[in-house]
Amino acid sequence: MTEKELCKQALSAMERAYAPYSGYTVGAALLTADGRVFTGCNIENASYTPTVCAERTAVFKAVSEGVREFTMLAVAGGKDGAVSGAFPPCGVCRQVLTEFCSPDFPVLLVTGEDTFERYTLSELLPLAFKL
Ligand code: THU
Repeated sequence: MTEKELCKQALSAMERAYAPYSGYTVGAALLTADGRVFTGCNIENASYTPTVCAERTAVFKAVSEGVREFTMLAVAGGKDGAVSGAFPPCGVCRQVLTEFCSPDFPVLLVTGEDTFERYTLSELLPLAFKL
């Protein structure tokens, strides 16, 4: 699985987003150490706070299936289904990733059909809280 292939899966997952309230659709693709991919999308709710982000959907799908070893994450998002630049994970998702991933874990932010930016988790969440 190449970085670009994982980005494509994030773009596909973005199409499955349920975002009637914000209009921001987000997709995530999480590569596991054994080569599987768990995708996620944001799922909004009329009551707003139950909304879950794409990244957490992907992580929770994987963990609930017994998978906790992750290699790489790709995220794609934007307004009304279009990617117009990087859509970085929110703080809560960064904290959830910190629970399962090392500081050098790569997070790919899709910036276009064939382009992405690469960050490490510690760049996105320096001085992370851990017990
Ligand atoms: N969203 C994500 O899916 N991931 C993030 O990390 C940031 C925000 C979603 C939640 C909500 O449905 C929409 O984007 C606007 O906040």
